[in-house]
Amino acid sequence: MSDMEKPSTSGESASAQGSDGVTRRDFLNEITLGALGIAGLGSAIVTYQYFSPNVLFEPPTTFRAGNPGLFPVNSVTYLQDQQVYIVQTTQGFYAVSAVCTHLGCITAWHPEHDMIECPCHGSKFKPDGAKIEGPAPRPLPHFSITLTADGELLVDKLQVVNPVQVLKV
Ligand code: FES
Repeated sequence: MSDMEKPSTSGESASAQGSDGVTRRDFLNEITLGALGIAGLGSAIVTYQYFSPNVLFEPPTTFRAGNPGLFPVNSVTYLQDQQVYIVQTTQGFYAVSAVCTHLGCITAWHPEHDMIECPCHGSKFKPDGAKIEGPAPRPLPHFSITLTADGELLVDKLQVVNPVQVLKV
């Protein structure tokens, strides 16, 4: 009998032992421990997510639009980050939503046409948000606009107001 065919003292044949001395049993134990570790980590992550509060962080609906002096009389100013037009006429200020009442596209102010236009399906609105033409079912809503104690314009996008309501400064 040669050395290669001799059973080892641990009961495993020499062919089950790698050249670096790792047995098949050791190898399978390592694989099993690794798999259990990965499964345990995965279930810990899922458990942590389950118990974490499901909070939705939304941007504030009230914002300062700045000093009234920034807006010339008879102007329409688009505030991109708020998707609101600040309009000043000789009557006063109002804040108009830039979100089209048809399917929610963002409209654009076109001073050359003196109109707010929707790029999606062609709805057109006057600077005060009144609908001129197109599939939009309603005019653009007006939001509450007031002055802060320190004299800045304050718009509340949660409060839709009657379009005849303007802020006189
Ligand atoms: S989304 Fe504005 S016209 Fe359709």
